[in-house]
Amino acid sequence: MPTLMNRRDWLRTGAIVTGGLPFLSSFGSFASTGRTSNPNRQLSDAEFERLAPPGLKARLFANENPFGPSEKARKAIVDNLSSCYQYPFMHFDELTSKVTAYEGVIKENLLFSSGSSPLLLATALAFCHGGGNVVAGDPTYDDLPERAESFGATWKKVPLTADYKLDLEAMEKAIDANTKLVYICNPNNPTATAVDTAKLKAFCERVSKKVMVMVDEAYIDYMPDPATATMIGAVKNGHNIIVARTFSKLYGFAGLRVGYVIALPETIKKLEGLTPGAFSISGPAVHAAIAGYQDKEYLKTALAKTNESKEFLYKTLKAEGYDYIPSVANFVMFPLQMESERFVQEMMKRGVGVRSWKFNKKEWCRISIGRMDEMEAFASAFKEIS
Ligand SMILES: Cc1ncc(COP(=O)(O)O)c(C=O)c1O
Repeated sequence: MPTLMNRRDWLRTGAIVTGGLPFLSSFGSFASTGRTSNPNRQLSDAEFERLAPPGLKARLFANENPFGPSEKARKAIVDNLSSCYQYPFMHFDELTSKVTAYEGVIKENLLFSSGSSPLLLATALAFCHGGGNVVAGDPTYDDLPERAESFGATWKKVPLTADYKLDLEAMEKAIDANTKLVYICNPNNPTATAVDTAKLKAFCERVSKKVMVMVDEAYIDYMPDPATATMIGAVKNGHNIIVARTFSKLYGFAGLRVGYVIALPETIKKLEGLTPGAFSISGPAVHAAIAGYQDKEYLKTALAKTNESKEFLYKTLKAEGYDYIPSVANFVMFPLQMESERFVQEMMKRGVGVRSWKFNKKEWCRISIGRMDEMEAFASAFKEIS
């Protein structure tokens, strides 16, 4: 019996040798193996990326922002290319000052990294190594809970509410003497729903007295008022929570890799020992982040384009008789009327990459919001098979 690793490697080789679409016959069987213990999601982003045929017409599977990075960020990269041979230490302070000034925190509250993923990993390692449990929604962004599982903890999965939001009440009830961490992804991936801000604030203030709470705000920039929705205020008020942020989404930096956490100084110290921090960010990415941070004009335009594409998607789904979960982020989840893995394969054959889930006894598609040409490619493929 081959191990999962062997199977992955075999598949990767197969995909390269066959050069794209022919590998799709293997896609279904691989897909059903899953990544780890999570039966809801069929493939991780990285696995999906490896399997996606070259020349896709629409890349709607990784919740990226195809409108980014901003002109200011692009210019900063080009302007600083010739200094790429230098370690970028001396620019970390400028980036730190920008974020601390905007958020009203001190530098001891802040830890940067090459994207937020290494900080989710460090958090799982810091709190879940060696056992206990992590309380998290189901489905949610499974990176941290799965890391926690690999460090020996159990993922206490709490189903979502009837309107597909994290069930804060049930999550609080699920906390027990062995709970090491509560992970809140808000807005939640893959459902693109957000919980009520006042309820979340009260939850964080209460629960963080007993156990560490991490609030992953990767998609918060897509919300109408991120400054009100964020839980950074709770950190400023001395509560023991970790807020994770990333430039990978509305800033369009997924390939540049910049993210950070804001937490109490003692938590930052704990995490610092488990990650190279800012030193893992490349020079061009540091310069781009300095130039692009809180570039309101750019953020407004990228958001408007995202919303235009989202409205088009909503209309397409409605016209074909499909329902969807109203989204506050750059992706939309909708229930399928066919088996989800087959749906993904059929869309892939038509050059459109989307993702599938299974939960609440339903088959689901998660579609990331792309440029209008990508949404149109989705619409014409969808009309053929819906
Ligand atoms: C909820 C959530 N958190 C964190 C990440 C990781 O993002 P990055 O490592 O690019 O900052 C993602 C990526 O899709 C995500 O969806």
